[in-house]
Amino acid sequence: MRGRFTTAVALGCLGVSQVLAQSDAQAWPPAAVQNNTFNATYGALDSAQAREILKRAGVPDDQADAVLVALDFERSNWAGSSTQLDPFYQDVPSHAGLAAGVPLKVEPVSNASLYTLPPGVSLSRILFTTETLNGTVTPASAFVLWPYLPRSFDALTPYSNFTNVTSKPQPIIGWGHGTSGWSGECGPSHIRNLWYQFSAPYTMALQGYVVVAPDYAGLGLDHDSNGNFIAHQFGANPASGGDIIHAIEAAQKAWPARLSREFVIMGHSQGGGAAWGAAERLSSHPVKGYLGTVAGSPLTSLLDNANFAQEVAPTVLGEGLARFSTAIGSVFPEFKASDWLTEQGVNLTNANQELQGCQSVALELIAGYNLSRPDWNDTWYLDAFDGLTRNGGKAFAGPMLVLQGMADNAVPPPLVTATVNATCTALPDSQLEYAMFDGVGHVPVLYAGQQVWLDWIEDRFKGVGVAKGCKQTVHSPQLDVSDFQGDFKYTLQYAEYSYEVA
Ligand SMILES: *[C@@H]1O[C@H](CO)[C@@H](O)[C@H](O)[C@H]1NC(C)=O
Ligand SMILES: *[C@@H]1O[C@H](CO)[C@@H](O)[C@H](O)[C@H]1NC(C)=O
Ligand SMILES: *[C@@H]1O[C@H](CO)[C@@H](O)[C@H](O)[C@H]1NC(C)=O
Ligand SMILES: *[C@@H]1O[C@H](CO)[C@@H](O)[C@H](O)[C@H]1NC(C)=O
Ligand SMILES: *[C@@H]1O[C@H](CO)[C@@H](O)[C@H](O)[C@H]1NC(C)=O
Ligand SMILES: *[C@@H]1O[C@H](CO)[C@@H](O)[C@H](O)[C@H]1NC(C)=O
Ligand SMILES: *[C@@H]1O[C@H](CO)[C@@H](O)[C@H](O)[C@H]1NC(C)=O
Ligand SMILES: *[C@@H]1O[C@H](CO)[C@@H](O)[C@H](O)[C@H]1NC(C)=O
Ligand SMILES: *[C@@H]1O[C@H](CO)[C@@H](O)[C@H](O)[C@H]1NC(C)=O
Ligand SMILES: *[C@@H]1O[C@H](CO)[C@@H](O)[C@H](O)[C@H]1NC(C)=O
Repeated sequence: MRGRFTTAVALGCLGVSQVLAQSDAQAWPPAAVQNNTFNATYGALDSAQAREILKRAGVPDDQADAVLVALDFERSNWAGSSTQLDPFYQDVPSHAGLAAGVPLKVEPVSNASLYTLPPGVSLSRILFTTETLNGTVTPASAFVLWPYLPRSFDALTPYSNFTNVTSKPQPIIGWGHGTSGWSGECGPSHIRNLWYQFSAPYTMALQGYVVVAPDYAGLGLDHDSNGNFIAHQFGANPASGGDIIHAIEAAQKAWPARLSREFVIMGHSQGGGAAWGAAERLSSHPVKGYLGTVAGSPLTSLLDNANFAQEVAPTVLGEGLARFSTAIGSVFPEFKASDWLTEQGVNLTNANQELQGCQSVALELIAGYNLSRPDWNDTWYLDAFDGLTRNGGKAFAGPMLVLQGMADNAVPPPLVTATVNATCTALPDSQLEYAMFDGVGHVPVLYAGQQVWLDWIEDRFKGVGVAKGCKQTVHSPQLDVSDFQGDFKYTLQYAEYSYEVA
């Protein structure tokens, strides 16, 4: 039922026919003050259990209060319920005998009222097969965003199998998200704003692209059909890059008469490293239809970041090592978190996994504490992991556009510059453009540089050629850097009453 108030407001700015059409679409409760949606309690763990976990880990009461607020915030931003209660992630078909890149389950139209999608966008979710770092086939989850009006490009390969399909192939962007967390509940496909909202996926869909976005193995779906746990291999760029490629292949098989053969890959931060990893993988394992990669603020190497953090602050290092430890353990079974972390560090890392805490929880639980052991660097794990996972200095399938904000304090610009340089030195014919943005921060580079990456992607689908050789561009603002909004001042909320969407 729509309240009287809504209709009056709506009539002020819309035509009557639109009001009538809208009133069929959504039923609002009568206007009331919205409860604090940061304090919602869903899922298997109630706040008393959560508090007990924090107490056992030795977390003081005042910090535990802050962690629980962050936990409530995360849970109030889930799409519906815990992944542990959502049948989509629970009834997992067997992947036995399957290769990577095959759809296992398709939810053609997800329940949009559980998400904060922009108008004119439709959502699907899939389970599909991918590979972990050592090539083991594993199931994973992904979302697919559909635009109301897909872009049409003459250069796309026409459908050959379906003479009855009159629509044009819909262009695909494979999207690799930045760090959402380290456990099942942190999968973007069950977060209301799909984690990167207007920073990339919403914008891509509104611009007419179909967005195919894996959660990355271990996020969202965290177990296979036999109940075996799937660890998220954070920072394993070739594996996460493979997740993007295999999600695209699976989506193409699930919707053969809708999707184009052609695709562009784009990612940011952890996903920038994944996108670059995908481009390297495509150099040795080509896939038909690949057009190029955008790597935004790429996390190219955990080792480089650890070394950089060591110089900046031990707390930044300890926090990083805590974030890396689950991945390292899944690649090297002999690794123990206590090889790197103090007792407090181990306790907090375990508590975070037990709570299924994601980025918000980690900010309250592990950020700012000195968690690394002084002798952590006597171990060989990070060097070995880096040898298997780092980007740069290697052949990649191009072209590639690297975006970097020069005021990024999450992925240090000198590390990205060095990785670009190493690549261009080793392979001077690389089709690599390094676009730097003066005074711009980590995620904000996706906004400040939005026309740059959207134009670049459009050119790939139009078949515009790219000259060989590395190229650098520096973008500077027309006013002082400080005259621009620097970082986010808002969070995307779920509207519960009609007055909230006026
Ligand atoms: C808001 O919270 C109060 C107290 O927790 C509860 O009684 C009420 O049902 C909630 N209202 C809505 C609309 O959720
Ligand atoms: C870590 O957890 C253990 C087990 O609950 C507890 O005995 C110990 O005091 C904790 N250590 C620290 C440093 O908080
Ligand atoms: C959450 O809400 C409950 C009751 O609705 C209240 O008792 C509790 O103090 C709130 N917690 C926080 C952290 O706001
Ligand atoms: C979609 O989710 C809403 C909100 O939880 C629920 O009321 C509705 O029944 C769901 N629709 C379907 C088709 O499951
Ligand atoms: C490969 O990695 C998986 C985890 O992704 C692990 O379970 C498996 O034992 C590893 N296999 C080999 C041969 O190392
Ligand atoms: C076209 O025909 C195929 C079978 O050849 C069928 O699977 C598909 O649904 C048809 N598509 C349309 C849009 O009718
Ligand atoms: C088209 O048909 C060929 C031959 O049957 C098959 O190999 C290919 O996978 C099909 N392509 C699509 C998009 O269904
Ligand atoms: C780790 O040790 C190596 C030498 O073995 C050194 O080059 C590097 O700077 C050290 N890194 C950190 C973060 O301490
Ligand atoms: C952090 O802990 C290490 C030992 O683990 C110690 O050497 C260092 O002084 C500590 N730094 C701070 C800022 O507490
Ligand atoms: C990268 O290369 C550019 C130009 O060749 C040079 O100015 C810069 O110092 C190099 N940076 C690093 C970190 O190697």
